[in-house]
Amino acid sequence: MSRRIALAANQVPERNERVLVESHGKSLAVFNVADTLYVIDDRCPHQGASLCGGRLEGRVIQCCAHGLRFDLASGYLLNSTALKVNSYPVECQGQQVYIVLSDEESGR
Ligand code: FES
Repeated sequence: MSRRIALAANQVPERNERVLVESHGKSLAVFNVADTLYVIDDRCPHQGASLCGGRLEGRVIQCCAHGLRFDLASGYLLNSTALKVNSYPVECQGQQVYIVLSDEESGR
């Protein structure tokens, strides 16, 4: 069974904004790119730097530490499958937004 995190209204970023969400022992970076929400772990798979404060270009986030770039949709390093940051699907029911964690990721 998957597990969902319900986001409070102030945890849902406005268009082209981002919000850091701490929940279930995870730090998740939530991005709104042209009204589409993307959620990734706020931890660069290279050496663990925060990605929430990275430089965003379209749906590509660039880590501030060493400049690696990741596609927010797939989580993969750009033009490569060598490194991947965990990315999470988002579900909306009316106004309520949920981040969907798989079993494994929710730790249960
Ligand atoms: S920690 Fe992100 S690029 Fe090195």
